[in-house]
Amino acid sequence: MKKVVVFGGSNVDFVFNLDKAPEKGETLNCNSFNKLPGGKGANQAFAVQKLGGNCIFLSAVGRDELGDIVLGSVKSTGVDVDNVLKVENESTGMAIIYVESDGDNRIVVNPGANLKADKAYVDSKKNIIESADYVLTQFELDMDATAELLEIAKKAGKTIVLNPAPAVTDVPDSLYAGIDYLTPNETELKKLTDLNTDTEEEIEEAAKVLLAKGVKNLLVTIGSKGAMLINENGTKVYPGFKADPVDTTAAGDTFNAGFIVGLSEGMEVEEAIRFANAAASITVTRKGAQPSIPSREEVNVILK
Ligand code: RIB
Repeated sequence: MKKVVVFGGSNVDFVFNLDKAPEKGETLNCNSFNKLPGGKGANQAFAVQKLGGNCIFLSAVGRDELGDIVLGSVKSTGVDVDNVLKVENESTGMAIIYVESDGDNRIVVNPGANLKADKAYVDSKKNIIESADYVLTQFELDMDATAELLEIAKKAGKTIVLNPAPAVTDVPDSLYAGIDYLTPNETELKKLTDLNTDTEEEIEEAAKVLLAKGVKNLLVTIGSKGAMLINENGTKVYPGFKADPVDTTAAGDTFNAGFIVGLSEGMEVEEAIRFANAAASITVTRKGAQPSIPSREEVNVILK
């Protein structure tokens, strides 16, 4: 089976479910609270394996209880976590997440040990990156380390899916060249290009700016409406699957994982997008990050 390397952050999420996030100066009791495994990298690795892929995870955690929670969860799916860095005297990354009653969230992250997954760490894992067929990463870790990973993957001719989350503004142009699939949501695309992304036409225009910088395909997630694929052949919208959202945390992570699993199994791009949309539509109906990610069997039911 083709191998997928995921490089990204590992966190434990402290999730507060509320009707509405607090205003400035306001103190609120939440409706419910959970401490759950998360982090965009860890969620994506977990999802790749749970959706039927074959994943090696590169990340960093502290030698603490939180590290055990997140790595234990990722490992439980069968992901290879042997190369995750265990950092002394640093806390595992943490995220405070407010989930409002409509399922939307606000997230604050303390990266902690994640910052130790630096350029030197990536260099030390060069042979692993080169041994993979597909590489999936985000912008949750150090930008120099991410750039190094992408450089190694490009030189070795790997298929790269770059999920530019969380939204950032300071991406060096050199990083875009040769990326096979860049997968922002509308907000991330807006930050990357400094252009409006409120309509499909605006999304297409913004995407063209990044295509001109050398990205081969833009795969823009547009919430419940699905995803848009924009490349030199034009633009196509792939509708999402109907769902009643409870918590949208990790929907993007599930989409990216589903897409790369589809590609790694030899699906046509259109089919891989449909698979990714179906998987993400299940994630939004459940609470938490990793606990909300569906199995392959659950996605197959929806696809039928
Ligand atoms: O994408 C969702 C993730 O973003 C959460 O699990 C949180 O840890 C943050 O990294």
